[in-house]
Amino acid sequence: MSRDRTAFVCQQCGYQTARWMGKCPDCGTWGSLLEQRAAARGGGAAPAQVGTAPLPITAIPADGALCTPLGLAELDRALGGGLVPGSVLLLGGEPGIGKSTLLLQAAAAAARSGRQVLYVSGEESAGQIRRRAERLTALAEGLRLLPETRLEAILGQAEATRPHLLILDSVQAVTADGLQSGPGTISQVREAATALQRAAKQTGMSVLLIGHVTKDGTLAGPKSLEHLVDTVCSFEGEQTQPYRVLRVLKHRFGSTEEVGLFEMTEAGLVEVGNPSARLLRERPEHAPGSAVLAALEGNRPMLLEVQALVAPAGLGAARRVAGGVDRERLALLLAVLERHVGLVLGPSDVYVNVAGGLRVTEPAADLAIVAAVLSSARNRPVDPRLVCCGEVGLAGEVRSVRQVPRRLGEAARLGFTRALLPAADAGAVAPSGLALEGLRRVAALPETLFPGK
Ligand code: TYD
Ligand code: MG
Repeated sequence: MSRDRTAFVCQQCGYQTARWMGKCPDCGTWGSLLEQRAAARGGGAAPAQVGTAPLPITAIPADGALCTPLGLAELDRALGGGLVPGSVLLLGGEPGIGKSTLLLQAAAAAARSGRQVLYVSGEESAGQIRRRAERLTALAEGLRLLPETRLEAILGQAEATRPHLLILDSVQAVTADGLQSGPGTISQVREAATALQRAAKQTGMSVLLIGHVTKDGTLAGPKSLEHLVDTVCSFEGEQTQPYRVLRVLKHRFGSTEEVGLFEMTEAGLVEVGNPSARLLRERPEHAPGSAVLAALEGNRPMLLEVQALVAPAGLGAARRVAGGVDRERLALLLAVLERHVGLVLGPSDVYVNVAGGLRVTEPAADLAIVAAVLSSARNRPVDPRLVCCGEVGLAGEVRSVRQVPRRLGEAARLGFTRALLPAADAGAVAPSGLALEGLRRVAALPETLFPGK
């Protein structure tokens, strides 16, 4: 075989060039170009492979039918049923959020259902993993551990043991022979992902890659893999809070609208089958500053408690603290409240938080945020049987949101009796027991929430 061709790849932006340069011509970073093995091109030195033969389209079963459940219900649910053989999934998340825990539990579940699982750890020793597995009651015969960081050795073991499922913890810990760059660089993680992708396609094993990602994006590696893999999931939550959300960001075999919810406990991750009930469990029902949002996580309706505290500011600039909601969005909503409701917040600190440590990014959360702030500022509780959803526009208008019937169904199921929603959505069929109240303008919110004052 002839020598592999190499290219130089910027570790910041992914720019490629045939020769080394001190500065990336694309993003201008100094010293960021590192050598990477170029992919073999058609007609090149790589030997021809037989691969899988093409099939008539009519002979191919539809995707859904192909996936095999892992045996962890919330994970399978998020993936639309389970894993597709031969596919590669990337699980991203912050260090310490629970990625190893989740996949070790998934590995054990798969092994118990009769599959051979190879868990490759480049970060922890086999003894450490065994100890964790004991805690998680994840000891299973078909689960093999391999502490290894060399890509070639991992591929060799995969070839020798032919697992149904290979888990690599983490893609950033692996190094390929012949690459100068260190572990975790874009060159290395791409090399590993590409090689495993190829092995997966050839043997039909499913590959799960763990990739650490930080909020500020300082660990850029996994981001550069997203186009190489079939499925990208992210595992999110607040380190100090027990809840974790598994989101599917890309999925070649199904919807990205499914999410899984877990709770981190002493004995590992426990699936939360009824999120709304769990998340509202500790809600103070008659306290000012609390409003319930009929949210959607993907396609899944979830009732969340939004809390606000408006307090006199000390010396210096008033604080605006947002937990689980976007800070800029909060600033905008406070400005709308000042302008259209006449609520003067200038000299006050405002804290807003989504209970349970979950994040909401959909604009439908606006109305609940505004209601919680107003409730705290007026020191009057919101009706505990009321849920809200609605986007708030800059002109103080309340704008329609998606999938209203799902939200209402969940509210009714949890025993709520009033739903405050955009006027444009108030024509929806109300589930029994739930009265719909349409709101056209934020200006009408105080009278709706606290009539007679
Ligand atoms: P881990 O899966 O190691 O995170 P990651 O692989 O994403 O870096 O989990 C880390 C945290 O989870 C750790 O701080 C301890 C906590 N944890 C539990 O609370 N219970 C458990 O059973 C386990 C295994 C971990
Ligand atoms: Mg880990």
